[in-house]
Amino acid sequence: MRSVLITGCSRGIGLELVKQLTAHKSAPEFIIATCRKPEEARALQELSKKHKSIHVLKLDVTDFSSLGGFAKDVEGIVGDEGLNLLINNAGISGNKTAKLADLKAEELAEIYKTNTIAPILLTQALVPLLRKAASHNASAQLGIGKAAIVNISSGLGSVSRNTFGGYYGYRESKAALNTSTRSISHELAADGILVMTLHPGWVKTDMGGKEADLTVEFSASEIVKTLFKLGKEHQGAFLQYDGSVLPW
Ligand SMILES: NC(=O)c1ccc[n+]([C@@H]2O[C@H](COP(=O)([O-])OP(=O)(O)OC[C@H]3O[C@@H](n4cnc5c(N)ncnc54)[C@H](OP(=O)(O)O)[C@@H]3O)[C@@H](O)[C@H]2O)c1
Repeated sequence: MRSVLITGCSRGIGLELVKQLTAHKSAPEFIIATCRKPEEARALQELSKKHKSIHVLKLDVTDFSSLGGFAKDVEGIVGDEGLNLLINNAGISGNKTAKLADLKAEELAEIYKTNTIAPILLTQALVPLLRKAASHNASAQLGIGKAAIVNISSGLGSVSRNTFGGYYGYRESKAALNTSTRSISHELAADGILVMTLHPGWVKTDMGGKEADLTVEFSASEIVKTLFKLGKEHQGAFLQYDGSVLPW
């Protein structure tokens, strides 16, 4: 893999993925780490000063009118060989404990806009660069060495695992992300682009909270291992961080 683009790298899983990919034995030549307020993303800025491979780009994933110009900036970095891997990681959880009576249209719409519409439209904007990478690596196996889109979903987006309810807005947004992943995987298969959705585990980040199961370092290291193992059998799949298959 020569190039990767990750959204939401100011903190949490996105930042840790940047750290671990930078230190990887097969580190990509270009790691495009996006965040909505680069001036406030101090840890990311410090890291990028130490590693020339990291390119910090400003992106609010819900600023849809900026995506065309953003894609041009990405092209300026990766050039004619295109983009190998897009990781749609940025996300919001909304009010985790809200009951039906508490729900507000604007809050639900904001979650859906960030977690579902944004990954779809960023994929749309970057598909020409992913196609370039796929054709540049035409003889490579399907996977991140060719071209791939990994949508960071959630186990809470699994309908069959929804045995206790709650997390309004968030569950729906990730279930919708999952089914759009499947549709996009069908559409882009002929281009040699792998498209799948991945649950990072319950992770100790600002979103996951202190009680979560996994450290961010462990989750990201498992995710990175899984990324390097992706192949044609994972086209349209829903996996968790360690590569095991999740129910829809
Ligand atoms: N932590 C968990 O237990 C867990 C479990 C399942 C799935 N996930 C998923 O994993 C992904 C990362 O979560 P996390 O735990 O790392 O969360 P986090 O610590 O809350 O970080 C979220 C990241 O997303 C960014 N973001 C939010 N809205 C954005 C927008 N409109 N434009 C650009 N960036 C935006 C945030 O940027 P700012 O700093 O600018 O706000 C931040 O970098 C999310 O998709 C989440 O749903 C997490």
